[in-house]
Amino acid sequence: MTTYQHIAVQPVAGALGAEIQNVHLGRLDDATFDEIHQALLEHQVLFFREQDITRDQHKAFGRRFGALHIHPFLQPLKDEGHPEFVVLESDAKHPFVAEAWHSDVTFQAEPPLGSVLHCVAAPEHGGDTMWASMYAAYEALSDTMQRLLAGLTAIHDTTRTFSRDNYKTEHIGGKRAEQVVSAEHPIVRTHPETGRKALFVNSAFTESIKGMKTAESAALLSFLYRHIESPDFTCRFRWKPNSMAMWDNRCTQHRVVADNLAAYRRMERVTVMGDRPF
Ligand SMILES: [Fe+2]
Repeated sequence: MTTYQHIAVQPVAGALGAEIQNVHLGRLDDATFDEIHQALLEHQVLFFREQDITRDQHKAFGRRFGALHIHPFLQPLKDEGHPEFVVLESDAKHPFVAEAWHSDVTFQAEPPLGSVLHCVAAPEHGGDTMWASMYAAYEALSDTMQRLLAGLTAIHDTTRTFSRDNYKTEHIGGKRAEQVVSAEHPIVRTHPETGRKALFVNSAFTESIKGMKTAESAALLSFLYRHIESPDFTCRFRWKPNSMAMWDNRCTQHRVVADNLAAYRRMERVTVMGDRPF
């Protein structure tokens, strides 16, 4: 465990997740930022309370980690000068939340490093987000399964998300992908900063495993999706307005708990560009 001088780090679960205190993300000096970066590598997802932050401050914090990603299909605040933002908004009329485990944008060749989410409105109860550590999921597999996965490549695409016929997110500024976008990634990736190995398939975007028959690929992916859902690998965060979370998209997955879809919920996200998985 690292010792921190500028921030207080309170782990929230055994596998991943820590609440960070004594910071305002809109006003960070370099030494404090370095510790937040270190804490992200150590805990994989960080939580911050009472962050009364402007969109420009939110973007500036994301940019400390790297250039911001512009989502190919979701740019709801483009007309307001913020094409970098994705807005996740749901209520009784639009009860859509991302309730499948996934990592973001893995249909692109260089999926994001991570995302920074700001809670604008949260239900009184429900609508929590869960994260799962793909380090922990990988490390819990047998040596034999780890060896089997080591040489495998998976195909990720937008077939089940942005390209599907009934894809409707106009209310959050989304548009359907006219053509399927796809990328290939190793099933086990090595984190470029920590050197640790992580499982890198997800049920929203991974379509198949290269070089396998359809039934073989479906069976192995279905095993992995069930495996990563174990509560042992997860943590859970209860939102309040002005809570923020930042996760490392290279070694975690997340999903929303769809248990209060009638309540209004609004999240604003910026996403930091990543590199090609290896
Ligand atoms: Fe997501």
